[in-house]
Amino acid sequence: MTDQLTGSAGFKYLDGEYHCENIPLTDLVEEHGSPLYVYSKNHMLNQLHKYQQVFSQQDSLVCFAVKSNSNLAVLQLLAEAGAGFDIVSGGELERVLKVGADPGKIVYSGVGKTAAEQRRALEAGIYQFNVESIPEIEQLQRLAAELQTEARVAIRVNPAVDAKTHAKITTGKKENKFGIPFPEVESVANSIARSKNLKFTGLHFHIGSQITDQQPFERLARKARDLIRSLREHRIEVETLNLGGGLGVCYDDEETISPERWWEIISPYLADLDLKFIVEPGRFITANAGALITRVIYVKKSVTHNFIVVDAGMNTLIRPAMYDAFHEIVPVIPRNNDPVNADVVGPVCETGDYFGKGRELPEPRPDDPLAVMSAGAYGSCMASNYNSFRRPAEVLVDDRTAYLIRERDTYEDIWCKEKMIDN
Ligand code: LLP
Repeated sequence: MTDQLTGSAGFKYLDGEYHCENIPLTDLVEEHGSPLYVYSKNHMLNQLHKYQQVFSQQDSLVCFAVKSNSNLAVLQLLAEAGAGFDIVSGGELERVLKVGADPGKIVYSGVGKTAAEQRRALEAGIYQFNVESIPEIEQLQRLAAELQTEARVAIRVNPAVDAKTHAKITTGKKENKFGIPFPEVESVANSIARSKNLKFTGLHFHIGSQITDQQPFERLARKARDLIRSLREHRIEVETLNLGGGLGVCYDDEETISPERWWEIISPYLADLDLKFIVEPGRFITANAGALITRVIYVKKSVTHNFIVVDAGMNTLIRPAMYDAFHEIVPVIPRNNDPVNADVVGPVCETGDYFGKGRELPEPRPDDPLAVMSAGAYGSCMASNYNSFRRPAEVLVDDRTAYLIRERDTYEDIWCKEKMIDN
């Protein structure tokens, strides 16, 4: 099974019907309702394995970026397969601890860590804090002193490298809020090294997400090498180099870079520096492992435009509305009729609520399920109850077995924390 899926997204047509691994999607949507997130377990494992292979001969940590898909079963699966975790909040820390992740494989990034969050991470004994500002370092020193412990600290560097990706997911440019500017790294590293309860471990870079151009990675590797050499010349030891995530995946017809190729591009600059490498892939592992299944409510035709109105919306998958992202949309059972050119839209009262514009699809009928592809990363975890729609169920498929890994909300779930005022 695993071999058969290598390199594929785990979704395919079998006997005219779209399947996840070896289960027809219609069966899943009938059982669990629509909309529904469906994931291929073996695709996720294969993708993780590609990263692990790159580093199989050296000291390294492959830390899954929890933000891309934080379902407990997904985290559990990846932890069992040897992944560490890249977290950005106290909530993500609680999630990974809940699935039994090894704290010695957790790295913690983020520009706004609160004292309570840092304290909990110190108590858990995480591997490394990726710090992003001087006030953050001061707060961490205070807390580590209080707890009589030592925190391992890497500096997240803002390398002023343009990742050439969508403006909302680029993070390594000078004007972005992330990281400590290049020229300040040496003095900040010195002050960490002088702090009694902090240990300076190394550097962290993450320049953006969905990167399909190899040049930014090469520029980053060159800059990282120069910085490490210069720090070492000034007697600052650099033990770890965290290269972040960011590898793009194929949503449409993009040419992408495999982890193997990525390493070929950057290793000439870095391999001989005697470093422990850390990576934080998110999208690469989960994006193409997932699809959002949604049923057609109506086909609405007007003189100028056709609309396929479906029961999922921007509340279920926000990427098209937020980043103009392209997601392939396919019929689960294609009808043998003339294609219609239509916008595929959701029921939310916002003009931005769409999944695709001007798509050619065999004209569907009400209730037909469609699959919105590549929805496994930044899909369910960014979903909301906007317009009081229920968040969907999630299912993880392993060959012919499906596991319900999140139940669909009830209406009660939507408002259960709200209080009416007693008069
Ligand atoms: N490490 C850090 C510090 C990050 O900020 C991110 C993503 C990652 C790793 C993982 O990046 P990946 O391998 O997934 O590209 N919601 C947006 C993406 C936001 C990415 C935020 N940071 C989207 O749907 O495209």
